[in-house]
Amino acid sequence: MINEKQLKREVSRRRTFAIISHPDAGKTTITEQLLMFGGAIRQAGTVKAKKSGKFAKSDWMEIEKQRGISVTSSVMQFEYQDKRINILDTPGHEDFSEDTYRTLMAVDAAVMVVDSAKGIEEQTKKLFKVCRMRGIPIFTFMNKLDRDGREPLELIEELEEVLEIDAYPMNWPIGSGKTLLGLYDLYHNRIEAFRPEELNNGERFIFLNEEGEIKGEHALKNESMYDQVLEEALLLKEAGNDFSREAISQGKLTPVFFGSALTNFGVQTFLETFLEFAPEPGKQETEEEQIVEPEDTDFTGFVFKIQANMDPKHRDRIAFLRICSGKFERGIDVTLSREDKKMRLSNSTQFMAESRETVSEAVAGDIIGLYDTGNFQIGDTIYSGKNKVTFKELPQFTPELFVKVEPKNVMKQKSFHKGINQLVQEGAIQLYKAFHTETYIIGAVGQLQFEVFQHRMKNEYNSEVVMTSIGSRIARWIDRDQLDENMGSSRNMLVRDRFDNPLFLFENEFAMRWFSDKYPDVTLTSLL
Ligand code: G4P
Repeated sequence: MINEKQLKREVSRRRTFAIISHPDAGKTTITEQLLMFGGAIRQAGTVKAKKSGKFAKSDWMEIEKQRGISVTSSVMQFEYQDKRINILDTPGHEDFSEDTYRTLMAVDAAVMVVDSAKGIEEQTKKLFKVCRMRGIPIFTFMNKLDRDGREPLELIEELEEVLEIDAYPMNWPIGSGKTLLGLYDLYHNRIEAFRPEELNNGERFIFLNEEGEIKGEHALKNESMYDQVLEEALLLKEAGNDFSREAISQGKLTPVFFGSALTNFGVQTFLETFLEFAPEPGKQETEEEQIVEPEDTDFTGFVFKIQANMDPKHRDRIAFLRICSGKFERGIDVTLSREDKKMRLSNSTQFMAESRETVSEAVAGDIIGLYDTGNFQIGDTIYSGKNKVTFKELPQFTPELFVKVEPKNVMKQKSFHKGINQLVQEGAIQLYKAFHTETYIIGAVGQLQFEVFQHRMKNEYNSEVVMTSIGSRIARWIDRDQLDENMGSSRNMLVRDRFDNPLFLFENEFAMRWFSDKYPDVTLTSLL
């Protein structure tokens, strides 16, 4: 049992964040390195190990995953310098789904990994937008410095321009690819050697004087790159953004770290500096206009993701819960806010690096998985106190892919409708209907959602479905008062959402612009 003081202390050492990136930027590799620092794993899985089937721990769900049956973002917890760190994985590639976005609703900070040869890529942009909307701190790791990449200044410029965020380089590369010598660490006023044994008698750091130069004699001083980095550092100091802890905490300024995850260069510095700035679990607003503080003793939390059929042998589901206050203990009695239903949480699991472990105690900032037999929906609040708590609704995300869906066997309408309605309620998929008919159209942000949907319809509701792709569309809502049904055409399909609000599914940007030009007074809106 922990008392109030201990609870406060436990909460204050929690750091919960997600790593976002475009596929292949190095998210798995850096996650592995972080887990190694925390002692959660002993050996970094190399590329080869990954390819030969030994997955990195952050990908461990892959091992038990059969596509469409068991897909998850895992949660990894480890200790480092007296901090209890929770990393939430955000699946990319073809596993991208609304869950990826929702995971970002459950974290207090985000780390954005960028491939320094490629710059800001599409998926990073999408995920960044959600972090930005939440105003959480965003830390950038420019990865793959051991390879020839783009000019650092160009990368910073692109970051600021594309994402519309100010950047503050915490360190600056000295060379890159084959010529990489080290990092000029502006924040700590030191140089971190890439190959300390060759450059600095085996010492990792070269400390600098007040002018930011190496004290005394050093081989590095003879390198032209040294002079260049001093010049660039001066330029950054004079022309760059000011460092501001406040701007970082509001997500307005992103500290940028260069490094190479694969060669474990700059990662530890990044982790330690990140921990200096990463926020503790924050407070949460409720529908009852209350503020729940993380150290409040009553237990509260919300479900941000539901994972069906984690174990193919069972038809169980796991509801992922972000704890917002109090302390979770096995067997705790709670109320499910949506239904005012009392329940006892006896079965819970926490996703650790090594294996799925049963958790007996957890506090604000931690994520626990609750075995579920169908009680929970995405966005649900549970609480242990006497006063009702309902956290604000999670946002919906604008779907980008659409399919028409119908039951294979027209005689089985009932199970079809039941399945769809439940999966929509649960947030697994978004439902639309053709404007004048009952044709069902479902929308998703990633292809995988359709596959999971099809699979679950069959396995959980005994309803085989036929899906016909409409392809990728841009969904934009329109005010009912402004709607004239003649506005619909083959290039902007008119449909309605499950609350009967009308929206257009535009074929592409061009079709949407054409529409806006033709109807300049019409306001088109999107979800997030
Ligand atoms: P992801 O989770 O973001 O998708 O990326 P992941 O860590 O799997 O890394 C993608 C590829 O990039 C991997 O190569 C990985 O070894 C490599 N990589 C990651 N960090 C660095 C780095 O700092 N430097 C270099 N040079 N490579 C790095 P892979 O599995 O062989 O993929 P591929 O190269 O065959 O695409």
